[in-house]
Amino acid sequence: STLEMEVEQINKGTYKHYMQKEIHEQPESLTTTLRGRLLRGGSWKAKTVLLGGLKDHLKTIRRSRRIVFIGCGTSYNAALAARPIMEELSGVPVTMEIASDLLDRQGLIYREDTVVFVSQSGETADTLLALEYALENGALCVGITNTVGSVIARNTHCGVHINAGCEIGVASTKAYTSQIAVMAMLALAIGADTISKQERREAIIDGLFDLPNKIREVLKLDQEMKDLAKLLIAEQSLLVFGRGYNYATALEGALKVKEVALMHSEGILAGEMKHGPLALVDENLPIVVIATRDACFRLVWFLRNYVILLLSTAWHRHLLISNSKQQSVIQQLRARKGRLIVMCSKGDAASVCPGGGCRVIEVPQVEDCLQPVVNIVPFQLLAYHLTVLRGYNVDQPRNLAKSVTTQ
Ligand code: G6P
Repeated sequence: STLEMEVEQINKGTYKHYMQKEIHEQPESLTTTLRGRLLRGGSWKAKTVLLGGLKDHLKTIRRSRRIVFIGCGTSYNAALAARPIMEELSGVPVTMEIASDLLDRQGLIYREDTVVFVSQSGETADTLLALEYALENGALCVGITNTVGSVIARNTHCGVHINAGCEIGVASTKAYTSQIAVMAMLALAIGADTISKQERREAIIDGLFDLPNKIREVLKLDQEMKDLAKLLIAEQSLLVFGRGYNYATALEGALKVKEVALMHSEGILAGEMKHGPLALVDENLPIVVIATRDACFRLVWFLRNYVILLLSTAWHRHLLISNSKQQSVIQQLRARKGRLIVMCSKGDAASVCPGGGCRVIEVPQVEDCLQPVVNIVPFQLLAYHLTVLRGYNVDQPRNLAKSVTTQ
């Protein structure tokens, strides 16, 4: 009816579609997600994280033998993005489960496990069935949902609401970034307050505080992504290479493109490139390579001092290596004349693509584990513009539902 249409227009404000609105709303949705949960006391007081819904269970979680992340679709990808920081700060091994696959295998869940259920709607059938299964097996079940009062929020032992606000577009955008932010806070809350980790923890907390600003900055790429969409409008396929913290970005970026723009797209773990995907590379297939800097890369880059590499902690060394590995992926793809679009940190365009010849997307740099929150935004914009240009329904893609409540 006309009334319904008017209400819809009011809800969308100045935006044409909900997905567009929700992408641009992310500085605000993230602010709400973080509100009241990050504490930056006086100079004498350490910065900490407060997650009210978890405080009685943190001890149990710290003692668990394993943390298992479970979700479907975008929620699974958000958990994957948070996995490295969760392992680093908790010291507990983290394994990943797609809800349906855990059920198909009747995979092993133990009493000593902490199982984290990630779901925007809190109603996804497979995730809910996996929750029932984990409860039967006696695990501690934690819910991370956006919907207060949803089944998953009610049936888990404890949890955190992401407070991203109502998400209407079928393709999840603002919920994804808020889910990662919540899981980073969860990692901080679970991680013990050891002196050795204090500096790292505080850097992440500062990074979280600054995240809404960085998202505001990366949203300025809107027009650039629209131009890129025009270039890709008639393509059959798009590959996205990522690794480390941004393996999830590759999967989620490709998922956005396929679900709304109805274009085949595949996220690929860059470390697997030589085990198959390389065969696809030619001068026609567009490939996005995510090669943003990791935290300590800058230091080493400026000093160009190999000694730093030798003296750095094992963790830093690992980061450095993972970044330079992505540089070599770019070289190898270029050697095969790949049509590259490189996502890199601001100021790195010349160094990631020496001699030019690739299109570059420069994004603001943040603390490494939060980089996936920033990096997904250009992909959301790209998927949005591709969809509009190709003339498809952005908010309700063909054959898909916002919440899959049947198996
Ligand atoms: C559907 C939606 C996706 C969502 C997935 C999981 O496929 O279209 O956007 O990521 O379900 O939903 P959940 O509500 O559990 O996060």
